[in-house]
Amino acid sequence: MRNTEQLELFGEAAPAPEVVKPVRRAGPADPAPKTPPPRAANAAALADELTRFRDFDKETVVLTASGSTGGPAVPMFVNEFWTARQRQANSLHEVSYRACFKPQLPRFFIERLTDSGAVVYDPFMGRGTTCLEAALLGRQPSGCDVNPLSRVLLEPRLSPPELEEVAARLRSLDWKAETETRDDLLVFYHPETLREICLLRSWLLDREARGTLDHVDRWIRMVAVNRLTGHSAGFFSVYSLPPNQAVSIKSQTRINTKRGQTPPRRDVPALILKKSRQLFRDVDPARMAELRRAAASARLLTASADATPNLPDGSVDLVVTSPPFLDVVDYAGDNWLRCWFCGIDPAGVRMTVPRKPSAWDEVMTAVFRELKRVLRPGGWVAFEVGEIRGGNVRLEESVISCARRADLEPALVLINDQKFTKTANCWGVDNQVKGTNTNRVVVLRKEK
Ligand SMILES: C[S@@+](CC[C@H](N)C(=O)[O-])C[C@H]1O[C@@H](n2cnc3c(N)ncnc32)[C@H](O)[C@@H]1O
Repeated sequence: MRNTEQLELFGEAAPAPEVVKPVRRAGPADPAPKTPPPRAANAAALADELTRFRDFDKETVVLTASGSTGGPAVPMFVNEFWTARQRQANSLHEVSYRACFKPQLPRFFIERLTDSGAVVYDPFMGRGTTCLEAALLGRQPSGCDVNPLSRVLLEPRLSPPELEEVAARLRSLDWKAETETRDDLLVFYHPETLREICLLRSWLLDREARGTLDHVDRWIRMVAVNRLTGHSAGFFSVYSLPPNQAVSIKSQTRINTKRGQTPPRRDVPALILKKSRQLFRDVDPARMAELRRAAASARLLTASADATPNLPDGSVDLVVTSPPFLDVVDYAGDNWLRCWFCGIDPAGVRMTVPRKPSAWDEVMTAVFRELKRVLRPGGWVAFEVGEIRGGNVRLEESVISCARRADLEPALVLINDQKFTKTANCWGVDNQVKGTNTNRVVVLRKEK
């Protein structure tokens, strides 16, 4: 249902052309700011900085978050604290994932709440935005997601191969070989493209089964996963929804009929190489060395966020995360084709998709108890939630009470509103309306 609606949003727009050559910028994207923001020693210092914040020439509005019952009132700070335009994020982030946040969000908290070498953890890591940004900023990343797909997406970007290694590995495959294909996927792919996809898939699965999958193979798999479907000639498929959500075979049949399209021939190895080149755009030798250092100490888990025994007590300095917002996003459905390519059985992935706010509260209280265990005393949590169901459910209010139940102290709520003006009524800003870009982040602290 949602996919069909979104298709309408895309209308009959012409496919966007893909960039072939690396885009030249004034310099490589640098996550390290010219003047680092002040390091907040405690909640009062962070609140003070947010109050004075003027980076985008707007004054911060300070309010009180409702839902503060059962404890002291929680201050809420509204401003444009970060924006996609601010500093370019590193090109390695440019893989799509449903409901991912921008790298600027974890960067904002990592810079203010941790020092170099600190452990930064995301219990719902998705494509791994927090972990990758932490690595790029010289911190040690830890991450967890119930879907094994997350590690497929993140691990290769923490240990990238050289572009030439990717090219050589792609050349080493016999792309003309015959292989078994899955004919129902012809709705997305030209028969020759589908043969190449299936060939690559079985080659990768075979190497994984033999235990010989190396960092170059993992990179190729990550890029291929990101090229499976999309709406431009840079993807393997005929025009479809954007790459972070594969539609069902039935929906794609409807899209093809509506647009009068048949899947064109795409060159699988050429597209993998082209996307690799784009991802490597900002990866210079210094950054590569930083990533490799971070990868060596990274802890990445496939587990449920409320049960992570592999993370030691008191080992985490900062958590930056965004949980599933009730059942708003169908992560399993949106990732079905990616999971197929990677040989992941969706039935084995137990997502948290509570429909009722009370069920969400129960799950998140259990997650906060686990976060309290893994945090060191004085450690922080930045927990990003949306305003959903037309503004009728404000999850930040639930977060405050769940966190208190788990004995984590709510320090403040930060609302990043990129459309914010002095006269805006922040309570009326709807996170889910197309065109708005509001993040609501509850900042918590483990006092002892
Ligand atoms: C909002 S997304 C996170 C996106 C992430 N911030 C990013 O930038 O890519 C939520 C993630 O939670 C994962 N998830 C759902 N239930 C989970 C659970 N019980 N434990 C851990 N991860 C879970 C989903 O697979 C999804 O990747």
